Amino acid sequence: MQGNRDSFSSRFGVIAAAAGSAIGLGNIWRFPYVLGENGGGAFFLMYLFFIVLIGIPLMLTEMTLGRSAQRNAYGTFKFLAPKTGWPAVGIMGVAAAFLILSFYSAVAGWTLEYTLQAVKNGFTGKTPVELNAMYNDFVSGSVWPVVWMLIFLFLTAAIVVAGVQKGIEKYTKILMPVLLVIIIILDIRAITLPGAGEGLDFLFKPDFSKLSANTVLEALGQAFFSLSLGMGTIITYGSYINRKERLMSTAASVSLADTLIAVLAGVAIFPAVFAFNIEPDAGPKLVFITLPNIFQQMPGGYFFALLFFVLLVIAALTSSISLLEVIVAYFTEELKISRKKATWLSGATVGVLGVLSALSYGPLKDNTLFDKTAFDLFDYVSSNILLPFGGLLITIFAGYILKKAAVKDGVEGESGHEKLFKVYYFIIKFLAPVAIAFVFLNSLGILKF
Ligand code: PFF
Repeated sequence: MQGNRDSFSSRFGVIAAAAGSAIGLGNIWRFPYVLGENGGGAFFLMYLFFIVLIGIPLMLTEMTLGRSAQRNAYGTFKFLAPKTGWPAVGIMGVAAAFLILSFYSAVAGWTLEYTLQAVKNGFTGKTPVELNAMYNDFVSGSVWPVVWMLIFLFLTAAIVVAGVQKGIEKYTKILMPVLLVIIIILDIRAITLPGAGEGLDFLFKPDFSKLSANTVLEALGQAFFSLSLGMGTIITYGSYINRKERLMSTAASVSLADTLIAVLAGVAIFPAVFAFNIEPDAGPKLVFITLPNIFQQMPGGYFFALLFFVLLVIAALTSSISLLEVIVAYFTEELKISRKKATWLSGATVGVLGVLSALSYGPLKDNTLFDKTAFDLFDYVSSNILLPFGGLLITIFAGYILKKAAVKDGVEGESGHEKLFKVYYFIIKFLAPVAIAFVFLNSLGILKF
């Protein structure tokens, strides 16, 4: 055990922080647009399948590893499997954190701009076409997307500098429940819009002809991204959890809360997509061109728009701090750099990558690699490759490298549940790695099923 490490102070604090990491732009911005691009209901079913089969057990595994080692993602592997190549999984996680944080901050910057627009009553009276133009004008600019991205990154770093209890835990505890309430209010408005049924059908009625190898990989990637899995974020947070905590129920609650918010976001968005004739496959702009239309159609729209975007910024913040924490925990514990220095240095590095992301819809839109802008490339590589691959390695590590007794002790801490452990262990040893490997091979075209 390492001495005087910071930690979470209460059970609610742990759940709020892990749920804070999981719930973010991934649920409200990414989930609806990726689902829209991948044909709707069938994607949704695949996504749910992956959450239950792989997501929850993997979240439990990551929490367990972190709690057992009480170290950052890299240090956890080094401690549990000294003198092996396994710590490389931790390094891969740190690399993924840089990539994700860079495009995440760019999108979070857009939410800051939309918050300002909400303050200025900037949506009122605009038609769906005008709202679309407003979005395009903004993201194609070369100044504001960058400025907002940097402001967001600065806020993230300012919280991370303050440390685990006084920074991360304090904020997430209050803000997550408020977010839930506001989305439910939005849902009520959305499902009472004329034509809402079509949107709900799109979301919930699976059309399996829409499933392709790539769709399945996208669903897996989205499940990982949304639950913050495969890159050591939950290992890092797990290292701040004490042995009294019942990890099984924590992992399940966090995953369920995350899924609930994604579904509620889908229910808010798709009825409106169809009611206002927006294309469901509009891509990353989907939320930004859809929701302002709903706000206009509801009493108190000004107030709700403002509240929603403020909360979206906050949801993004509670996730971005977990991403930065992966990097900072690594720098402080392994490279012995002070927390302050580590935070500002890594923040600045992310800022540079963030500029590439933030300009990807403007001046850099034609600078592509593999046909993808920096923004798309960072997103695709991290969500669809690094996270599932990291997840695959983590399941193999827990299933084959660690001794079963050590995993059992790690999962259970001071309280055990025999039967559930058996189910969990079977999944982590056999089902999850095989499923992830299948999806990979399938998307590479090596294996067809
Ligand atoms: N889970 C976050 C979201 O859904 O917005 C994003 C994220 C955070 C991904 C942390 C990965 C991560 F490690």
